[in-house]
Amino acid sequence: MSATPHTAVPQGLDGPLPMTLPRLAEKKQLGEPIVMVTAYDYPSAQVAQEAGVDVVLVGDSGAMTVLGYPSTVPVSTDEMLMLASAVRRGLRTPLLVGDLPFGSYEGSDVQAIATAQRFIKEAGCDAVKLERGGTSVQRARAIVESGIPVMGHVGLTPQTATALGGYRAQGRTAEQALSVASDAIALQEAGCFSIVLEAIPAAVTRTLMAHLEIPVIGIGAGEATDGQVLVFHDLLGIYDGHVARFAKRYADVRSHMVAGMAEYAADVRSGSFPAPEHWYSIDDEELTRFQAGLD
Ligand code: KIV
Repeated sequence: MSATPHTAVPQGLDGPLPMTLPRLAEKKQLGEPIVMVTAYDYPSAQVAQEAGVDVVLVGDSGAMTVLGYPSTVPVSTDEMLMLASAVRRGLRTPLLVGDLPFGSYEGSDVQAIATAQRFIKEAGCDAVKLERGGTSVQRARAIVESGIPVMGHVGLTPQTATALGGYRAQGRTAEQALSVASDAIALQEAGCFSIVLEAIPAAVTRTLMAHLEIPVIGIGAGEATDGQVLVFHDLLGIYDGHVARFAKRYADVRSHMVAGMAEYAADVRSGSFPAPEHWYSIDDEELTRFQAGLD
């Protein structure tokens, strides 16, 4: 019996074809910038779909942006799977990548493969992402060998921000930059199909790009990468927490949401909502019979 994800990919008859790993590699070869964004639920996935992005990441940043945790560390695999399943239902063409949460893959190859399989089987993801070099390189290799595509993530890795000295740019000394570079190259050699570089100097990225054959997606890593990723709530102006300096805000959705909600509250309090156009009617005869029935 084949394993069917709880959430099938919505099919459309026309429009762009689904993004694949070969197509992503081809985009790098052609110098076509890759657009990646995070999403955490059905409507945000639909927005990414309609905007025509290439890759959607159900990032563990959702721990903070939609679940209200103070960092990405506490989010569980089950919580991530619920978010990823909702995103799957709203997406058709972008490649869907699920972020393996902290504590769900570091322990052993067996644990890493089992968690990655859940993202594929239960949430319908196309690939998974994990953070760091070091022992994560072996975990990435094991997941890839089990048949699941893996995206790496080096530089500032929020799951281990405490060990990195906080949420700060990495690779600003030659030693640190060499460490980021060797992690990225090791992840490439382990079979990752793509890698995220987060918060490293643009000049370090430029130098490193010559050593990376897989598509490289940057966030706070300068202009030289093959593509860029931003967090949905940062780019649309929904998140009210700290926003990193590398996040560009393209809209102020939160203020529109608050204004709309405040207008609704005022209308309810003044009695101007609901108005007759929001009511349902009943025939006079039926109403009379109803009243008589109640009496
Ligand atoms: O969780 C996330 O949103 C991420 C991106 C910033 C790459 O890992």
